[in-house]
Amino acid sequence: MEIIIINGPNLNLLGKREPEIYGEDSFEDFLLHLKGLFPEVSLHYFQSNSEGALIDKLHELGFSYDGIILNAGAYTHTSIALADAIASIETPVIEVHISNVYARESFRHHSYLSPHCEGVIVGFGLRGYELAVQYFL
Ligand code: DQA
Repeated sequence: MEIIIINGPNLNLLGKREPEIYGEDSFEDFLLHLKGLFPEVSLHYFQSNSEGALIDKLHELGFSYDGIILNAGAYTHTSIALADAIASIETPVIEVHISNVYARESFRHHSYLSPHCEGVIVGFGLRGYELAVQYFL
């Protein structure tokens, strides 16, 4: 099973960025842990701060992979282009947010992506990515 985690803008700073909201673990450390939990899964990872690069990656893998786990960061709340990309591909996408966006500023309450996703996991910290892998399994 081929699964990719795609993280959007500012998520490269996990562990350093607002640790009271996003925690103290780097994604690289967490990914090692995740791979250990699911040795049977071919788990890939891509991060970019650029909207176009995220769209290109969805196009590239969205007709061959079994699952995409996407945390688009703030593009979630702004990007019709990313929403269109998710709608255009065949691979199911699960939207993940580390923080509980509904307990935060109102501009984080709307997602352009959710209507095109298989499901949404919000507010469980990095465990959200683990839950998404479990769903695909
Ligand atoms: C986030 C929530 C977004 O509102 C924010 O812009 C992020 C991270 C999360 O994982 O909680 O960058 O997607």
